[in-house]
Amino acid sequence: MSGRYILALDQGTTSSRAILFNQQALPVAIGQREFRQIYPEPGWVEHDPEEIWASQWEAIEECLQKAEATPDDILAIGITNQRETTILWDHATGRPVYNAIVWQCRRTADFAASLRDRGLSPMVQEKTGLVIDAYFSGTKVAWLLDHVPGLRERAEAGEIKFGTVDSWLIYKLTGGARHVTDYSNASRTLMFNIHDLAWDLELLSLLNIPAAVCPEVVDSSGIVGYTDPRWFGRPIPIAGIAGDQQAALFGQGCYDPGMAKNTYGTGSFMLMNTGTEPVTSRHGLVTTIAWSINGTVSYALEGSIFVTGAVVQWLRDELGVIQDAAETEALAASVPDTGDVYFVPAFVGLGAPIWDSYARGLIIGLTRGTKKAHLVRAALESMAYQTRDVLEVMVKDSGFPVTTLRVDGGAIRNQFLAQFQADIVGCRVDRPRVTETTALGAAFLAGLAVGFWPDLSTIQQTWQKDASFEPQMDPATREARYQRWQAAVDRARGWVG
Ligand code: G3P
Repeated sequence: MSGRYILALDQGTTSSRAILFNQQALPVAIGQREFRQIYPEPGWVEHDPEEIWASQWEAIEECLQKAEATPDDILAIGITNQRETTILWDHATGRPVYNAIVWQCRRTADFAASLRDRGLSPMVQEKTGLVIDAYFSGTKVAWLLDHVPGLRERAEAGEIKFGTVDSWLIYKLTGGARHVTDYSNASRTLMFNIHDLAWDLELLSLLNIPAAVCPEVVDSSGIVGYTDPRWFGRPIPIAGIAGDQQAALFGQGCYDPGMAKNTYGTGSFMLMNTGTEPVTSRHGLVTTIAWSINGTVSYALEGSIFVTGAVVQWLRDELGVIQDAAETEALAASVPDTGDVYFVPAFVGLGAPIWDSYARGLIIGLTRGTKKAHLVRAALESMAYQTRDVLEVMVKDSGFPVTTLRVDGGAIRNQFLAQFQADIVGCRVDRPRVTETTALGAAFLAGLAVGFWPDLSTIQQTWQKDASFEPQMDPATREARYQRWQAAVDRARGWVG
């Protein structure tokens, strides 16, 4: 077999990364590039698609350089991406018609509310597994078609392509030859029927989106195309695609129903594998496609929490009370508790399980004795409380008890947070040795398709634990604090409008 590595491209909300993995599933080298966040109006978030691509390419070059590798070392490429973020481009020129509208963007909150007010939520949930919210791609596509002059006519004439970031990168990498997405990404658009596994004509008509803009939907593991020789000098197969949270579930080895992971990034996304049948949530989670392999679709329940790690960035960049995120661990541990201070970081409203676009951030319980350490501790604790909000309903919806939670992402390297997380959910928290689980999941999907790894059980055996955190808090304290948290959340709701 030529090619010693799988190249994983992890295109995230704030940076593009490229990681080479060897057959032991260990990262050999990492390239990373940040790119601009564009905030044209309060609550709006955009990215420049060309900057996304340029940063991704630079990350690839950096990664290959660091590994002293050449394109001949790459057996296949796996792609994982920030989900829901919406790009429309002109098929003839390959140029985007507008900036990417990012998943966090709230510009379509009123449109989403108007659809909910029409009583469409049950129908949309039944077909897509989703709640009607500005978070998902559908209302963003509709906004672009309504606001970019002449775009709707061009879209109807078949000149315009829609894609989430995976589609955009593959279009670029294949020199415009392929317009595809995988089932996991399609399931985040509000336009895709997760039972029929097809774009849904009724939903497209509801949103007034021409079907011609939609990409072909393909398996998450399988060769979908080859890179244009202009990039690597020779064609390399693109063999894996998954949305970043589904990729993390895959990278964490959660292949059996009932296994769950939580990733702590800008926000947190807890996913539980529910097997080959979709489970409908009755408590504000979404049903999503985890992946599709050899035509077999696996489903997951997901709790999408919009702001977790970003709260630490906010303390650093906007408030200036810390210089470095790493300070938070010692600061939080320097006080025995928050002194009854609670911090609800509803900066962009609240996602699962509450779904309140009009909630906003709140810090409550301040006294003359409140110190920086209490505030920092309350910020870290908010990540754990929001995780419990989701975990509780996930257990109810799925019927699976969660006895262990696998965690990953930058913030959970914080020992205080990892221990507090175990304390507040009351179950063991396991952190893997390789924390690049998102990229690893994309590498696994690609590697499976080209025989780099023979099967799932071989992959599962590569999962190794770094640390386990057992709950130490007494149950009465746990419940008392959680109730205070819930009271704080109630007060943050419905603030806007
Ligand atoms: O649904 C949004 C999610 O995919 C974003 O993930 O890691 O880019 O913040 P991340």
